[in-house]
Amino acid sequence: MWYDGNIVNAEDATVPVLSFGLQYGWGVFEGIRAYPSGSEYLIFRLRDHVSRLFRSAKLLGLEIPYSQEEVYSGVCRTVLENKGSDYIRPIAFGGQGSSVALGTSDMMTHVAVAAVKMGEYVPGASDKGIDVVTSAWEKPRWRAMPVTAKICGGYIGSIMAKRDAGRRGADEALMLNFDGTVAEGSAENIFIIEDDVISTPPLSAGILEGITRDTVMQLSLDMGYKVCERNLAWDEVASADEVFMCGTALEIQGVRSLDGRIIGDGGVGSVTRQIMTTYHDLVRGRIPKYLAWCDRAESVLNSVLI
Ligand SMILES: Cc1ncc(COP(=O)(O)O)c(C=O)c1O
Repeated sequence: MWYDGNIVNAEDATVPVLSFGLQYGWGVFEGIRAYPSGSEYLIFRLRDHVSRLFRSAKLLGLEIPYSQEEVYSGVCRTVLENKGSDYIRPIAFGGQGSSVALGTSDMMTHVAVAAVKMGEYVPGASDKGIDVVTSAWEKPRWRAMPVTAKICGGYIGSIMAKRDAGRRGADEALMLNFDGTVAEGSAENIFIIEDDVISTPPLSAGILEGITRDTVMQLSLDMGYKVCERNLAWDEVASADEVFMCGTALEIQGVRSLDGRIIGDGGVGSVTRQIMTTYHDLVRGRIPKYLAWCDRAESVLNSVLI
């Protein structure tokens, strides 16, 4: 992996136990997909992911001691070093400081990029859809933490929700806000389709500004659908014609049930299928119109100014 500017063996990328990243979850991260294309790798929306990493860090007050270009290079070098990997995990986190006191600010920020083989996040989901249950864990409120940033420690509730969903026999969790409005999945945004109108909660619902969400909104508009950002009630999800979730890891998957209630026909709806198919092709660089979103790892490495 790429660790603080160099490619090192993963087992040599160690952190002191007293690191702020480990002790308190003081860090920010990203998840990026890489798709093989012939003998090359296409990295989907690399610049948007790195830019969100820096934005998350800024919200936390974590200074990243590298330029965005250096992180692009770290991502591409890591992917090329890990043939067969399809998921990239950049992370910037606080190291050990002069004290473990919460107000300590003299620790350095470490930056690492790992690449792993993830494959299908929910095996078999693209054929049959996923089962979702509403989580008892709600999304943190705006004043609990910067909710629109991808902060390491902010994922405790998401892990609790996802693990509870698994124990209940479901694939994914739906998390609500304190007022009962729909927020998002443990690591996905959610969309409903009703009378061919595609709706998703607005950023003011305290959700992550998903890059897949943005891709889906642009695609859906290009396909001629009406797209609407508005607060959604649980009832609207349960009674929608179609529901799907999307995120870098999950990609786009239809929701076939919510809390045991069948959605639509209980499979992947036709509009969802159309969006999934287009997304599948565009991330693999097969649709010229969206090629600007797909970076070839080697071309990026040749063009970055570092
Ligand atoms: C809480 C949360 N919501 C939504 C998403 C989807 O975001 P993206 O499409 O950028 O991966 C993620 C994934 O990172 C997430 O962790």
